[in-house]
Amino acid sequence: MLNIIIFGAPGSGKGTQSERITEKYNLLHISTGDMLRAEIAAKTELGELAHSYISKGQLLPDQVIIDMLAKKLTDTAAGRKGVIFDGFPRTVAQAEALDVLLKKNNQDVSVMLELDVEKEELITRLLKRGQETGRSDDNLEVIQNRLEVYHNQTTPVMDYYKEAGKYTHIKGTGTIDEIFGRIATTLDKVAN
Ligand code: AP5
Repeated sequence: MLNIIIFGAPGSGKGTQSERITEKYNLLHISTGDMLRAEIAAKTELGELAHSYISKGQLLPDQVIIDMLAKKLTDTAAGRKGVIFDGFPRTVAQAEALDVLLKKNNQDVSVMLELDVEKEELITRLLKRGQETGRSDDNLEVIQNRLEVYHNQTTPVMDYYKEAGKYTHIKGTGTIDEIFGRIATTLDKVAN
């Protein structure tokens, strides 16, 4: 099984590249951000909770996210060659929980790809998307919070995978095709 974590700051291109990776390698794409936005749109209890965190650029509590992810994995992973995790894990506690979930099925994380993009470019991309799509957390104040949360709470996850020998750095600037080419070079080695 090919279980990939696509990692990086808000706006680094995780969702964009996940679509390409999913298609080429026949994976299940799990985006915790997309799942939460679907809950908000459906006006569920979880959606109401999610909105209160997302609108401030804060992370939801680990256990809420872990329970949501565990259910999604059980319901939908069958028949795929693996999973791409987008926006998860975002804390070391989430990374540890993912290891436990995968080990139950004798699986493991195959590789973590960090999309590395400088701060100014991230802000430019997110402000542009906010203007084009109206995504509610793409305004300057919330973007600054999301970047701070990423720096303080999420970057330690990189060390977790570095220590496990799973980490790969990917330059996240250039055209979408160029970046995908870099990712595919790594994944072709891991998949074979
Ligand atoms: P989430 O939805 O995961 O958002 P994010 O991490 O902030 O990431 P984005 O979706 O903004 O960016 P991306 O890296 O996917 O980039 P994209 O491809 O879209 O999380 C949202 C919120 O949900 C969190 O703040 C938190 O509250 C909550 N949450 C989610 N997961 C959680 C978890 N595990 N634990 C706790 N809370 C959680 O690209 C961005 C833009 O750039 C697009 O417009 C795209 O077209 C453009 N672009 C992409 N590539 C390029 C390129 N090469 N050149 C130019 N533009 C590009």
